Amino acid sequence: MPLVTSKEMLKDAQKNQYAVGAFNANNMEIVQAIIETAEEERAPVIVQASQGAIKYAGLDMIVGMVKVLAERASIPVVLHLDHGTDYGQNIKCLRAGFTSLMFDGSALPFQENVTLTKKVVEMAHTVGIPVEAEIGQIGKMDSSDEPGVAREKIKEFLADPEEANKFVRLTSVDSLAAAVGTIHGCREPIAQLDIPRIEKIRDLTGVPLVLHGASGASDEEVKKGIAAGICKINIDTRIRMAFTRAIQDYLTKNPDDIDPRKALGAAKEAAKTVIRDRIRVLGSHNRV
Ligand code: G3H
Ligand code: ZN
Repeated sequence: MPLVTSKEMLKDAQKNQYAVGAFNANNMEIVQAIIETAEEERAPVIVQASQGAIKYAGLDMIVGMVKVLAERASIPVVLHLDHGTDYGQNIKCLRAGFTSLMFDGSALPFQENVTLTKKVVEMAHTVGIPVEAEIGQIGKMDSSDEPGVAREKIKEFLADPEEANKFVRLTSVDSLAAAVGTIHGCREPIAQLDIPRIEKIRDLTGVPLVLHGASGASDEEVKKGIAAGICKINIDTRIRMAFTRAIQDYLTKNPDDIDPRKALGAAKEAAKTVIRDRIRVLGSHNRV
C-alpha cells in the first residue's frame, strides 16, 4: 500500500499500549528485512533514514526503495527522517516524499530549538506530515565507554518534564523524543529508564513519546517504558551488529565465495531475526 504518515500509527499505539518499531535503514537489504518482517508479523512499521544514511545511499534512492517495497506490502509503512538536525534537510525530505519528519535541535539552546522546530512543524503540517522533535539530549556512546561512564553521560542531559511540556505547547510537535535513560550506540542492554520521568512527561504533554537509543534497553526496560507512555522505539545498533557479524561469519566460513548476494543474504536474514524479536517485544505484531 502507499506510504502512510506516523500520525495515526502512533495514536493507535498510544491508545492500545504498544510501541511501533522504527528501524534504521542504510541499504536495500535492511529496507527489505524491515518491511518483509513487518509483513510476516502483521505489524505497522517505520523505516527511518538518518542524515548519514541519506548521504550514503542518496535521498532519491532511499525514497525509491522504501516506496516500492511499501507498495508491494499489505501492512502500513512510514518513511521517517531520523535526527534531521538541519532545517533544509527536513524540507528536502518533505519534498522527496517522506511521510514523517524529525527535527533534532537538541544541541541548540532551548529557545532556538523551539524556533526551528516550530518552523519545521508549520511547513510539514501544511501538507499533513507529522513531526518528531528532541528534548533533553540523547547522547552517543563511544565504543570505549564502560557502562558506568555511559550511565553518567545519560544522567547529564535528561529531559525536564516541565520544559518538555513547554516545548510541546510552543511548537505543536506531534511526538517527542525525550532523553529518559538511554544513549545511542549501546551494544549491551545497560540502560535504566527513568520511569517516573516518562510518566510525568506523558501526563503533562499528552503526545506519543519516542525512545531513542533503544538497542541498549533490555526487554524488561522496554516493556516498562511502553507501559509508561513510549509509543515508538528506535533501533539501529542491534541491526548493524547482526548484519555486519553475519557477513563476517559467512565470509569466514566461505572464504572463496565471491557472490555478494550470499553474504548479504545471510546478513538480511540476521537483521530479520533482530527485527522480528523487537516487534514481538514491543507488542506491535498482529495489529494489522
Ligand atoms: O535514532 C536512532 C536510534 O535512536 C537508534 O539507537 O543505535 O542505539 O539503537 P541505537
Ligand atoms: Zn536516535
